[in-house]
Amino acid sequence: MKIVVITGCTRGLGRAMIPRFIDAEWQIAGCGRNEAQIAELCRQFPSPHLFQTCDVSYEKDVTSFCTAILDKFGPPDLVLNNAAIINPNAPLWEISAEEFSRIIDINIKGPASMMRHLLPAMLKRGSGVMVNFSSGWGRCTAADVASYCATKYAIEGLSMATAQDTGGKVAVIPMNPGIIDTDMLRSTFGGSAGGFPDADDWAQRAVPFFIQLGSKDNGQQMTVPGG
Ligand SMILES: NC(=O)c1ccc[n+]([C@@H]2O[C@H](COP(=O)([O-])OP(=O)(O)OC[C@H]3O[C@@H](n4cnc5c(N)ncnc54)[C@H](OP(=O)(O)O)[C@@H]3O)[C@@H](O)[C@H]2O)c1
Repeated sequence: MKIVVITGCTRGLGRAMIPRFIDAEWQIAGCGRNEAQIAELCRQFPSPHLFQTCDVSYEKDVTSFCTAILDKFGPPDLVLNNAAIINPNAPLWEISAEEFSRIIDINIKGPASMMRHLLPAMLKRGSGVMVNFSSGWGRCTAADVASYCATKYAIEGLSMATAQDTGGKVAVIPMNPGIIDTDMLRSTFGGSAGGFPDADDWAQRAVPFFIQLGSKDNGQQMTVPGG
């Protein structure tokens, strides 16, 4: 069976992908910060799946989560670095230094840390795909989201440069998921988020697309079809 790692699987896009991967007969290792949601996922989707509380911005949490993954499954086939936050709508000068540090820690250092822990085992095996969730706001900018844009532009560079390091032995791909009605979108778009597809519709398109990614896609800036 194939193994997918999904960070940030307690809500939104991460949560919506779980049943789609299970339908495709994949085993899942997922994480998020919300303990109650993680306990519910463990109850709903017991072993062989693995769900663990992990804040991707804390090195010791990532160490513990990735050790559990490698011990239980060995190197994963697909890693979806999906967990992220967005700043409240405001110009940069109204975002505190602490809020700015927090978004950098989660959105950039989180995926970097997951890659640092998992890529060596994946490279040793010589296959696998690492998808780092970017955004339309990782490729063009907008007012009121400068700190989020900074992190998603960073994800594009981090992914493309790491792809040059792996040389395609493991594909590393910056992925724009599209625009989807989730908690995150509602925090920036307000009520108009309801005009966009919901996470279940999106997962129906996204999961088959993720499953067919491979070495040929290494370093490509990609967007989920229909996104
Ligand atoms: N929705 C869109 O239209 C859209 C557009 C472009 C890009 N994206 C990107 O797509 C990804 C998913 O977005 P979404 O809309 O599903 O967001 P969401 O609804 O806010 O869900 C975010 C998920 O990430 C988890 N998370 C947040 N901080 C975390 C941390 N420090 N450690 C571990 N997990 C953490 C949250 O769970 P806990 O609270 O339990 O930790 C939650 O499960 C993000 O990378 C986002 O930037 C989304």
